[in-house]
Amino acid sequence: MNATDPLLRVEGLRKHYVSPRQWFSRPRPSVQAVDGVSFTVARSETLSLVGESGCGKTTTAKSVMRLIEPTAGSVLLDGENLLKLSPAQMRQRRSDVQIIFQDPYASLSPRLRAGEIVAEPLRNFRRHSAAERDERIRWLFSKVGLRPEAIDKYPHEFSGGQRQRLGIARALALQPKLIICDEPVSALDVSVQAQVVNLLMDLQAEFGIAYLFVAHDLSVVRHISHRVAVMYLGRIVELADRETLFNAPRHPYTQILLSAVPVPNPRTPTRRMLLQGDPPSPANPPPGCRFHTRCPLAQPVCKEQTPPLSTRKNPSSPGGQGEHLVACHFR
Ligand SMILES: Nc1ncnc2c1ncn2[C@@H]1O[C@H](COP(=O)(O)OP(=O)(O)O)[C@@H](O)[C@H]1O
Ligand code: SF4
Ligand SMILES: [Mg+2]
Repeated sequence: MNATDPLLRVEGLRKHYVSPRQWFSRPRPSVQAVDGVSFTVARSETLSLVGESGCGKTTTAKSVMRLIEPTAGSVLLDGENLLKLSPAQMRQRRSDVQIIFQDPYASLSPRLRAGEIVAEPLRNFRRHSAAERDERIRWLFSKVGLRPEAIDKYPHEFSGGQRQRLGIARALALQPKLIICDEPVSALDVSVQAQVVNLLMDLQAEFGIAYLFVAHDLSVVRHISHRVAVMYLGRIVELADRETLFNAPRHPYTQILLSAVPVPNPRTPTRRMLLQGDPPSPANPPPGCRFHTRCPLAQPVCKEQTPPLSTRKNPSSPGGQGEHLVACHFR
């Protein structure tokens, strides 16, 4: 592999949940939670996944780490397909990819002290002596802005923001190349959100970590991302660098999502567009363009032909760079 290759390359990722067949009932259709998703994440880059609840963000994020076993596709980390690894090989590679969740309380053992929570991955990989481990724990606590006294506390003695810092310290312990962040600040107060997002950005600048950042709050996404992928019903409908995506979105779904966000400059006129109806069920997705049941621009062809996610030339935004991919027959 080349130094210019992306750190992570996800290709054709699918996760279809098959519900168990009940006696005497007809088989139920599988849920197409993720249906052919491809993207890359470069070293030291933040790629965000955005979209309505249920569009497949968490399934994508967990599939990359094989916390969910995908139905098809490949997940290349440094050129190696993680989906082909044995459980033992996968455990070894886990040190390179870590994950933090929306609710750190659910993912941190309540019976362990904070220092032990961070020590656990270090112990599992046995890379350090006990003294080195203690030293590293103190260093990790200082890196995430936790005081040394916090080492002996239990998770319930922490505030929400401190608990997320603890989750980040644990994720950092093994010097990962990629951290998957699944709505890491969605449960926090707005002021605390900014602190945690800034901490993640500082750690990226210092250690070159890449993030796959899942969020539904677009102002947070705008702050942290280098590139953004918009998902709708299990597929990516638009992918571009941050400037292009926020200043010159092309897919009707992205335009509608963004029109609901307050604009920093009130002189920029925006027409607020509303999304019609609820998203269709991923157990029975519409044929052709999955967005056609709610799209204000839909034409007959949209029901019949699936628009491929394809490159648009002339990035139309100042400061825009890199590839702009859109899945729409008319944009
Ligand atoms: N274990 C499961 N079995 C069946 N369907 C599931 C399962 N987990 C998630 N889903 C469905 O897959 C779709 C995508 O879910 P998810 O990835 O959690 O979306 P998001 O994180 O974008 O809100 C949803 O329709 C959800 O109901
Ligand atoms: S392909 Fe058709 S339905 Fe889909 S987003 Fe474009 S115009 Fe709308
Ligand atoms: Mg989710």
